[in-house]
Amino acid sequence: MPLPGLTAWQTLNWLAVSAGERLLIAGAAGAVGGVALQLARARGVAVDALVSRDAQVAFARGHGAEVVATDPDAFRARSYDAVFDTFGAFLTDAVADGGRYASIATQAGPVPDLSARGVRTTVNQVHEDGAGLRELAGLVDDGSLRLRVHAAFGVDRIRAAHRRFLRGGLSGKIAVTF
Ligand SMILES: NC(=O)c1ccc[n+]([C@@H]2O[C@H](COP(=O)([O-])OP(=O)(O)OC[C@H]3O[C@@H](n4cnc5c(N)ncnc54)[C@H](OP(=O)(O)O)[C@@H]3O)[C@@H](O)[C@H]2O)c1
Repeated sequence: MPLPGLTAWQTLNWLAVSAGERLLIAGAAGAVGGVALQLARARGVAVDALVSRDAQVAFARGHGAEVVATDPDAFRARSYDAVFDTFGAFLTDAVADGGRYASIATQAGPVPDLSARGVRTTVNQVHEDGAGLRELAGLVDDGSLRLRVHAAFGVDRIRAAHRRFLRGGLSGKIAVTF
């Protein structure tokens, strides 16, 4: 929660999406993307979702995404007020002129300069935020924000937890319980 939750929260705040706007989330079934999807829908934002594989489509639809696709070409029509890019998709054709584009994929490098189209861009970096975390915890407690855990392992099974993580194909985080 502190890392993916706050990353989603702070990046959505930077994007400043509001009710009635259209948001595209690239990686919407991931940890950050999944929280961003739920928070954006709760704000009345219309969300479309790029996901990695067919197995993730139901998750995105089930959390309120409208158009859900595994093909990035499905989203290249410059129609989104904002794009939240969680893995370096750089779907810059998807954002409308005058829109906002935020990536959190630091390792993928900067977002191309889109200032000629009036698009603001950033690579957002999460920072400590106790107040934000308290608000997120409240949403989890009242059931309006659900976190995805693929499997939980006791700390005595830490090697098995790593092996499961390395196999990939996850639907949520691997949790280690103490
Ligand atoms: N800048 C910051 O402050 C900050 C903070 C937190 C995280 N991050 C970074 O943000 C990224 C996302 O973090 P996370 O915790 O959300 O990771 P995650 O749970 O692995 O989510 C990434 C999602 O993107 C999907 N994806 C990857 N490549 C794709 C592709 N080519 N097409 C479609 N979907 C694709 C993944 O699908 P699969 O599961 O099928 O691979 C997964 O659903 C990581 O690189 C992390 O290091 C940055």
